[in-house]
Amino acid sequence: MKILVATEKPFAAIAVEGIKKAASEAGADIVMLEKYTDKNQLLTAVRDVDALIVRSDIVDKAVFDAARSLKIVVRAGAGYDNIDLAAATAAGVCVMNTPGQNANAVAELVIGMLIYAFRNRFNGTSGKELKGKTLGLHAFGNVGRNVARIAKGLGMNVVAYDAFCPKEVIEKEGVKAVDSVEELFSGSDIVSLHIPATEQTRGSINHSLMDIMPKGATLVNTARKEVINEHDLIEWLTARADVQYLADIQPLCHEQLLQLCPDRYFATPKKMGAQTAEANINAGIAAARQIIDYLKNGNERFRLN
Ligand code: 3PG
Repeated sequence: MKILVATEKPFAAIAVEGIKKAASEAGADIVMLEKYTDKNQLLTAVRDVDALIVRSDIVDKAVFDAARSLKIVVRAGAGYDNIDLAAATAAGVCVMNTPGQNANAVAELVIGMLIYAFRNRFNGTSGKELKGKTLGLHAFGNVGRNVARIAKGLGMNVVAYDAFCPKEVIEKEGVKAVDSVEELFSGSDIVSLHIPATEQTRGSINHSLMDIMPKGATLVNTARKEVINEHDLIEWLTARADVQYLADIQPLCHEQLLQLCPDRYFATPKKMGAQTAEANINAGIAAARQIIDYLKNGNERFRLN
């Protein structure tokens, strides 16, 4: 059994060790392709492998065409918008993700970015506290739940809207469930986005939501840049000097926003929500184990197609 780990953005070394150990215990071989710069390197490396572990790496029809022995791809992480599920299904390849494994890392980054922004980027001037502020979570999946847990510890009021999660489930976590996305945006000092990038959500964070946020509002995006309507984001930040946007993913309009409102816009240089040793270990080893369990025992838990 040959497993390729193809990561443009590599896992921490300790996670790679863990993946190799999990594989060797099951008699599988690991092949590493890290920090590759050319898609052809992936197309060559994938040629004779049974399984593939990726992060945000694009796995499209070209990859499935090149990978003649491929049986399973595991996205070591939550969002799988980088994988062409239809092409995988057509090629007879199983696709899985590892939900929850990196959620705490992303949640800690949300809170870290908020403290950084609310304390004026540690420039020594008087900032603001998070305690007592209302934090609205747009979706209550694994990341949203972890943000809620930490935010409650900080004394924040946490509310959430999730079209797919029953209200009782949200309220059991001590979080107020609101009835609509509009109610979430209009009633929260801070909105943190935790929706996936899908056909329905692309561009869904638009002027009709941003405009109803209260005075002094903060919008945090550690989800995907595609969910934001960037035209509306620019207009919002132009029209309102009281609001700010914090992102773990640089929008296409990054340079424009830096020019427009450098004090009210912050984005990490590279997506780094899941960039912790712990998240890499959790997601990487889970991916290896899921592959082994699928190939040896046919376990399809976490299958996406
Ligand atoms: C995810 O979807 O799991 C996160 O966005 C992390 O993505 P990454 O593995 O590319 O850092």
